[in-house]
Amino acid sequence: MPIFYGKASLMDYLKSIKTIHSTVGFVPTMGALHQGHLALIQKSLAENTNTVVSIFVNPTQFNNPEDLAKYPRTLEEDVKKLTNLDPNIILYSPSVEDIYDGQPVSLSFDFDGLEYPMEGKFRPGHFNGVGTVVKRLFEIVEPTHAYFGEKDFQQLQIVKKMVAKNNLKVVIVGCPIYRESNNLAMSSRNERLSAQERDEAAIIYQILTSVKAKFPTNSAAKISEWVQKFLKKNPQFTLEYFTISDEATLITCNRKNKNKKYRAFIAVLVNNIRLIDTISLN
Ligand code: PAJ
Repeated sequence: MPIFYGKASLMDYLKSIKTIHSTVGFVPTMGALHQGHLALIQKSLAENTNTVVSIFVNPTQFNNPEDLAKYPRTLEEDVKKLTNLDPNIILYSPSVEDIYDGQPVSLSFDFDGLEYPMEGKFRPGHFNGVGTVVKRLFEIVEPTHAYFGEKDFQQLQIVKKMVAKNNLKVVIVGCPIYRESNNLAMSSRNERLSAQERDEAAIIYQILTSVKAKFPTNSAAKISEWVQKFLKKNPQFTLEYFTISDEATLITCNRKNKNKKYRAFIAVLVNNIRLIDTISLN
């Protein structure tokens, strides 16, 4: 499998293999690859001539230094997983220096308000960090298609907004959430849960499916109240946010509008590990 640690050699290589008709699919990740990542990569492989995967733990999107320090780094295993999937995958695994050319700092973005609620509220600066690294990676890889998971739905909308506002020539493809057998959304952070916490975290998706069942006949406010009460009965979970929001603007739903698409979003802390999930409601 071709592996590049520096942008110059990656760019040279991509230039040498690109043709006028070829497409480049790109899957940016922070590594500790799991089946959720691999599903995105498989989609890219199926839809493109070449597929580039990046593994880069981006310091500027971590507002919590402990979270950055504890983020799993498993490059050797990741390389094995990618090679098993398809040895033609092109891996870019840069250093902080290679991406940031000096001190890692974020650019400042205006995502038309998508950046304020939920992850934006609880992780100050997070989306400026994501925007900065994704823009940089797009400049280096120059993909025709880029794949992002609906697990991080707010991130997906923000990347689409960045592409639209800057007229970037890349198609952003959203991919469904890949779940463990107990329906917990797959995440690199799940590795930090004990077996019992992992089992108990199944409650997150159970809440979301109950919310979906309640949605046609209950107001968003009433459902939010129910979620809060329900989680209080499970003190090992701390609710960071629960919201039902317009899928396009991410603005909280006050009164339902039948022409709009809504989603429920949840973030909980289990033993200080942050888990997020989302479900489409209509
Ligand atoms: P990371 O958390 O590694 O996720 C990489 C991609 O995999 C993201 O698009 C994410 O939404 C997707 N993904 C993660 N778990 C998933 C699951 N269970 N089902 C489907 N897709 C899933 O998101 C990031 O990295 C970073 O913010 C990044 C975009 C790489 C910028 O640094």
